[in-house]
Amino acid sequence: MASKESKIAAEPSIEDDTPDLSSMTGIGPTTLKKLQESGYGSLEALATATILELSEIPGIGEKVAERLISQARKQFKMGLKTGKELKAEFSKRQHITTMAKSLDHLLGGGVETGCITEFAGAFRSGKTQLMHQLAVTVQLPPEKGGLGKGVAWIDTEGTFRPSRIEEMAVPLGLDPDECLDNILVGRAYNSDHQLELTEEALNAAKDRKIGLIIIDSLMAHFRAEFVGRGTLAFRQQMIGKYLHAILRVIEVKNMACVITNQVQAKPDQLFGDPNTPIGGNVVAHTSTHRILLRKGKGNQRVAAVLDSPNLPEGDATYQILTEGIRDIK
Ligand SMILES: Nc1ncnc2c1ncn2[C@@H]1O[C@H](COP(=O)(O)OP(=O)(O)O)[C@@H](O)[C@H]1O
Ligand SMILES: [Mg+2]
Repeated sequence: MASKESKIAAEPSIEDDTPDLSSMTGIGPTTLKKLQESGYGSLEALATATILELSEIPGIGEKVAERLISQARKQFKMGLKTGKELKAEFSKRQHITTMAKSLDHLLGGGVETGCITEFAGAFRSGKTQLMHQLAVTVQLPPEKGGLGKGVAWIDTEGTFRPSRIEEMAVPLGLDPDECLDNILVGRAYNSDHQLELTEEALNAAKDRKIGLIIIDSLMAHFRAEFVGRGTLAFRQQMIGKYLHAILRVIEVKNMACVITNQVQAKPDQLFGDPNTPIGGNVVAHTSTHRILLRKGKGNQRVAAVLDSPNLPEGDATYQILTEGIRDIK
């Protein structure tokens, strides 16, 4: 974990002026205390909670949970909105540069906040390298393509490398030490641990300046642990719940989330890239933008939009250098 002096730990995030739970009407002091102790400190945390989650808190039944959530949603203005209101909300979204103009262009300006961007590709397609790059660029000030914020990184394969962060920070004029201090890494040893660390990361985002959550990779543990047809439905339910918990927080906080995914060959595919991301419909539908990465010549990599609500089809070629992701000159 980052030291006390760390920038992301020192001051509360700018977005953290969301109303405190004590400002909510129709909530008694005992219930308020129970909620706060269980990590629901803000109106927003309560408004985005589910009845099931809340009723797990001792002394809060389903009925109370339902009433509290609905009250919080009303106060947090989570009902219907006009297209114009939504346009104003979308205009607050920001983009994190990948340092390659071609890839930024493909992504509509970089990795977008408020949604989940999935990068899927085979082994060595450069997923983890791209994650390192984004963990550095998110720390740049907005005028240089960052958010001026830190990172929470869930590492399921043990491939986070501090040395890569340092190598990528220096050419961008960032202090490598500070850069590392602004990255919280959780090495997840199994799927349970992955869920626990992600929850910790989402909680950390409540009072730290975190602009990006990285899950590298999403499915590795789930794929290895849940084998056999009988466990598939349960696995999918778990992943769905997991991704939605992330989505709720990043939408409200206007943070970005990037997940990497493995691919498997589609035997019936005759044209184009025969690889398809794993994780089935749940991952396909919860990722906002799905990008497929593949290896090109030498250090070149090709990214292609597989699915997105607003990005047109297309691809981008870039290279992986010691200093990071760059356009091909
Ligand atoms: N220091 C470096 N300088 C340049 N390229 C590197 C460096 N380290 C790793 N790479 C490139 O990144 C590749 C690994 O990509 P990686 O992101 O780990 O793939 P994935 O996560 O998709 O399996 C290596 O094969 C190498 O080409
Ligand atoms: Mg990797």
